Amino acid sequence: MSLSPQGAAFRSALDIVAASEPDVARAIADELASQRRQLKLIASENYASPAVLLAMGNWMSDKYAEGTPGHRFYAGCELVDRVETIATEHAKALFGAEHAYVQPHSGIDANLVAYWAVLANRVEAPALAAAGTTNVNDLSHEAWEELRHAFHSQRLLGMSLDAGGHLTHGFRPNISGKLFEHASYGVDATTGLLDYDAIAAQARAFRPLVLVAGYSAYPRNPNFALLAEIAHEVGATFMVDMAHFAGLVAGKVLQGDLNPVPHADIVTSTTHKSLRGPRGGLVLCTKEYAPFVDKGCPMVLGGPLPHVMAAKGVALAEARRPEFADYASRIVANSQALAEGLLHRGARLVTGGTDNHIVLADVTSSFGLTGRQAEPALLEAGVVTNRNSVPADPNGPWYTSGVRMGTPALTTLGFGPQEMDEVADIFVTALRATSPQGGGSRAKYTIEASVAQACRKRCADLLTAHPLYPGVEL
Ligand SMILES: Cc1ncc(COP(=O)(O)O)c(C=O)c1O
Repeated sequence: MSLSPQGAAFRSALDIVAASEPDVARAIADELASQRRQLKLIASENYASPAVLLAMGNWMSDKYAEGTPGHRFYAGCELVDRVETIATEHAKALFGAEHAYVQPHSGIDANLVAYWAVLANRVEAPALAAAGTTNVNDLSHEAWEELRHAFHSQRLLGMSLDAGGHLTHGFRPNISGKLFEHASYGVDATTGLLDYDAIAAQARAFRPLVLVAGYSAYPRNPNFALLAEIAHEVGATFMVDMAHFAGLVAGKVLQGDLNPVPHADIVTSTTHKSLRGPRGGLVLCTKEYAPFVDKGCPMVLGGPLPHVMAAKGVALAEARRPEFADYASRIVANSQALAEGLLHRGARLVTGGTDNHIVLADVTSSFGLTGRQAEPALLEAGVVTNRNSVPADPNGPWYTSGVRMGTPALTTLGFGPQEMDEVADIFVTALRATSPQGGGSRAKYTIEASVAQACRKRCADLLTAHPLYPGVEL
């Protein structure tokens, strides 16, 4: 049988890699085999297209290109300029943004660029203007020390971790928590939903420089118009981290008040989650913030990755096609089918369901397990998920009471609502056959071997019907 063009491309690429380091080539091939064996319900992962993957594996990687298109610190960057401009223009058109910056290497980096852009615009620029200059090198030692301290005296209000926020939204283990004085808003204890009146009251009392919205584990769609109103009333810059749901914005599932781009001053994102591009990040912003965002490299970012910007260009072009809008709406239909399948089999879900790509199951109240027990039990049953806190989690952030699931990856494989119902049944069957292992351990568990085996077979059947990277045989 002849190989597909994609199959031939990946096979030759791996033959070439194997000639230099066969163990790496083997690991790459084994990773595909492993991904083909497991039902991927990790909400933050996806499968990028072969075009996206191949755009990354080439000599674009060999160029240094600090700066922005047309303003580089190195000669010979015309073709990197072309690639970066293509990706930037696609991002602007796709999201309707005034400005886009596609250099961040990841979501964390995109957030760091955004924070420093806010500080540069709101703290540094006024201090420079007061000193009658635009260059920090013109400041006296004393004036510079005063400014340095001012950077660290600012406030950030973001979503709490157990409500579904992200570590980069002001928490101490991340640089954002070391930089800003931080407070976080949670969700209503009974509904699990954002309470906009409570957030407004908190913002009025705390007076943050930055209000951050966006989530890693919230199964509903925030109202960004309301949050923007709150931010602007208290004089805060409104920043939205849409790392998780950028694909739903790109695919026009989230519109009006649910689309952050028209409402936020700065929007950050990853490119590899629901957006289905290469591993990376991007920043969208208003014209006001553009000159500050564009200084991301070398301020906080290492040199741009031209090969990844090339892949971002390809992915963003793909996301502008009508098929992507269809994909995005199927992500949500699948998520709702998964939620309904779980609910009618007796599982308890945070907020009672989902409006986006995420389903957050409370495995402690549903099955008497911690997330730390449920996650590996599900893996033994062939389902890859991750444990996650639920609001006011009694088991804390390590053991957790929740398991987070998301549908972007399985939707890419072509799963529909019927298959998601089967996934829900596998999930419930596996966890009903799982028990905490005595001694009060919140980590140890046992799963009935025959049930795990039967679940793996059901997962394999689903994956055989919906193969990953069809035509690629290594
Ligand atoms: C909301 C949010 N922001 C940022 C990130 C960080 O992205 P990355 O892993 O690309 O740095 C994540 C990833 O989990 C996320 O969920």
